[in-house]
Amino acid sequence: MSGSGKGLLGMWLYRRDEEWTIKEENSLMHKSHDPQMSVVQKVSNPDTTSVVFSLKNQIGGLARALQVFQDLGVNVVHIESRKSVRRGSEYEILVDVECDSRRMEQLTRMLSREVAAINLAQYEQISANPHPPLSAAPSFDFSEVDMVWFPRKISDLDRAQKVLMYGSELDADHPGFKDPVYRKRREQFVDIANNYKHGMPIPKIQYTPEEIRTWGTIFRELHQLYQKHACKEYLENWPKLVKYCGYREDNIPQLQDISNFLKKSTGFSLRPVAGYLSPRDFLAGLAFRVFHCTQYIRHSSDPFYTPEPDCCHELLGHMPLLANPSFAQFSQELGLASLGASDEDINKIATLYFFTVEFGLCKQDGDLRVYGAGLLSSIAELRHAVSAPEKTFRFEPEVTVKQECIITAFQNAYYYTDSIEEAKEKMRHFASQIKRPFGLRYNPYTQSVDVLTDAQKITAVVSELRGDLCIVSNALRKIHEQDDSVNVDSIASLLTQGIDGLHLDRQSRNSSSASSSGSNSDSDADRSPNRADSNRSARSEKHGSDRGGDKHSSPHV
Ligand SMILES: [Fe+2]
Repeated sequence: MSGSGKGLLGMWLYRRDEEWTIKEENSLMHKSHDPQMSVVQKVSNPDTTSVVFSLKNQIGGLARALQVFQDLGVNVVHIESRKSVRRGSEYEILVDVECDSRRMEQLTRMLSREVAAINLAQYEQISANPHPPLSAAPSFDFSEVDMVWFPRKISDLDRAQKVLMYGSELDADHPGFKDPVYRKRREQFVDIANNYKHGMPIPKIQYTPEEIRTWGTIFRELHQLYQKHACKEYLENWPKLVKYCGYREDNIPQLQDISNFLKKSTGFSLRPVAGYLSPRDFLAGLAFRVFHCTQYIRHSSDPFYTPEPDCCHELLGHMPLLANPSFAQFSQELGLASLGASDEDINKIATLYFFTVEFGLCKQDGDLRVYGAGLLSSIAELRHAVSAPEKTFRFEPEVTVKQECIITAFQNAYYYTDSIEEAKEKMRHFASQIKRPFGLRYNPYTQSVDVLTDAQKITAVVSELRGDLCIVSNALRKIHEQDDSVNVDSIASLLTQGIDGLHLDRQSRNSSSASSSGSNSDSDADRSPNRADSNRSARSEKHGSDRGGDKHSSPHV
């Protein structure tokens, strides 16, 4: 192989039969002046020129590259692709074109903005170990290169309903396992969930007297604890749920009524689910302000225990907080962080969800109050958590994410913040570090997520945000004119914090690039109250039988 060790600008790639070859530049017709691509003359046909480039790892990369050919009116006669053997996340594209040298110069200049680099040395390795021909490479969806599928619009949630367990079957240790009447009843709930599609009304349930008694028992006991231990955001919304959704000891509220109420309060809506949803699918729902909610109730034989989420947990634990705007936003941001994330990052987000939304506490008026639904729906663990200061630690995502999520007993640790806002801010910072080659923004008008893959899209968002900022700025000015005690500077600083954060993030990234991430992890782990080497997948598949309270492993519990 010729040209060993030489830079790309001095080399050309061409293809002979089914193999790639590198040739010195002076032997070919065109030369790219950009290191991001190679332009070659195809040996077999002197009338065509082949352009070879690697795609950037982002949505629509190929479409944008090919758009350049179209914009310049370049005649494309042949296209081939293959997965890069140099970088697993990239694809290599060969395009045969017919055009003159002047047009080729324009093409290379414009195309260089859309494609990734080619590493010549790696090609030499390829030739030593021949790669399968391009035409033999499997086809792929160019818009989804190396991306995990995730819902882009709210109706896509119909395709994200992977129930892990307790769908239509119950484990042998489930309290209702030996009760054929209960199991038959559960099948009705499974059918409702499986047949549900976005936009449908949630069927109302005629709960049996036995089911209402079970609900009433739990409702009565927990209600006595809320005034003392629930956070103020929870307590503020409780009367509204009583008034608009029928929260009473002798009535199990209907999901559709609660969904209607939440829609008006925070834009959240409910969707029935048959059982444990996969963490990825559950978190994806949150991104669209959709909360997957069980509709069945636990077995009547043990009102204070359930090995799975049920309507008592969802309705008593989650609903009051989802009616709080700040908490709703927090939940949605967790969901947005999960879209397109790796399995590893999904597990991290699910763990942080677990120790905040399910088991979180916050300081209010000098006391620790509970906002976690897992605690607010479990009499025994709620009492335990608020009386165990030795197990309560400040929420730090980098530390908390290593904590084991216990499913067979009370948690080893609980985490608190000074406010829900603080938890939100910390999660934002954590989410910004998740490796994902694109940003996402939820569009409430279309109920879809915009994938921010280039500066043009981001500029459009910034332009939209400027409109909102003008509204805020004008309102602030008018208020200040009427009441000069309003702390304008304080509010204005909130507006600029996001921009400042961008600068700080860049500085932090630059400084941290010199140090390895492994050493940071070790440091965090040392500070963790109980370093966990837990198997997260086990958390999703196995559930214990803690009789002391409700124990759950999925994020939605
Ligand atoms: Fe939950």
